[in-house]
Amino acid sequence: MKENPRVFVSDGMDGLARRAGRDLLAPLRAAADCRVWPHVRPAAREDLREELAEAEGVLCLLTDVLDAELLAGCPDLRVISSISVGVDHIDLDAATSQDIVVGNTPGVLTETTADLAFALLLTAGRRVVEAGDFLRTGAWAKSRWAIDSFVGRDLHGATLGIVGLGPIGQAVARRAQGFGMRVLGWSRSGREVLGVRGVALEQLFAEADFVSLHVALTAETRGLIDARALAAMKPGVVLVNTARGGVIDQPALVEALESGQLGAVGLDVFESEPIDAEHPLLGFPNAVLTPHIGSASVETRVRMVDLAVANLLAGLRGEPLPACANPGAER
Ligand code: DGY
Repeated sequence: MKENPRVFVSDGMDGLARRAGRDLLAPLRAAADCRVWPHVRPAAREDLREELAEAEGVLCLLTDVLDAELLAGCPDLRVISSISVGVDHIDLDAATSQDIVVGNTPGVLTETTADLAFALLLTAGRRVVEAGDFLRTGAWAKSRWAIDSFVGRDLHGATLGIVGLGPIGQAVARRAQGFGMRVLGWSRSGREVLGVRGVALEQLFAEADFVSLHVALTAETRGLIDARALAAMKPGVVLVNTARGGVIDQPALVEALESGQLGAVGLDVFESEPIDAEHPLLGFPNAVLTPHIGSASVETRVRMVDLAVANLLAGLRGEPLPACANPGAER
């Protein structure tokens, strides 16, 4: 009898399974010889190297960096299935050249991530966290209501510039239209989207009161929002990033907050995660910061795991993946 394929799962996801009320890995356990990372601490690079040395498939998170050097030590690996839409933690070229198919989870997290982007636009624009802290620390009790306290920026009537018009950028555009915003958009391919005025990046920066980033992190988009781009934006602009931290040059961002060029920021993603507790960004009251929770609703996270498990099972069977990030490797 043929042996079940050997699979490594880098996180048992017990908490999410409890919330979902079912064993999310059950289909995988039934079809594969499944080794689930047993520790509370995340699998470190050396752990991954060891665990993947004989694995044929892996179910991983966006925090598991699978670069060329690590993949070179995985001779049996046939399928990588990441529980994320972003795959910048995986060297796709190296995977393709080793005939490893890579699965990801597009589509299922679009609306949830767009909700968070919109929450950050509202929270940063209307200074919700800053004002809440003023109350919680007792500062309000010691003062009074004032006509100019925590005055922020209206979203209605303002111009939103969306950088990247993929599914999440489009979902943010739909929300913005409902809020009575004028919507400008830029995408590398010049994609046309109903209700969004497609413009050059320079025009978007020059006209937008709010800018929201929705591009994948690639060699072309790394540092796209650099000192020049920030200087080209309207003074006092509100900048939101739910894509990847590397899209923004973080030291330039800190400078733009310091100089007041940026009115506020809403950031869910950072160049290095988790962000250091001493990082200068944490010192700005007008920086709304969240720990990479764009897709964090129970329903969406469960849908992501289900799709990732389906990708892994399909790949192990040699079938096309429901969502493949490197179609070149599918034979
Ligand atoms: C992704 O899937 O890439 C998001 O950043 C996290 O859900």
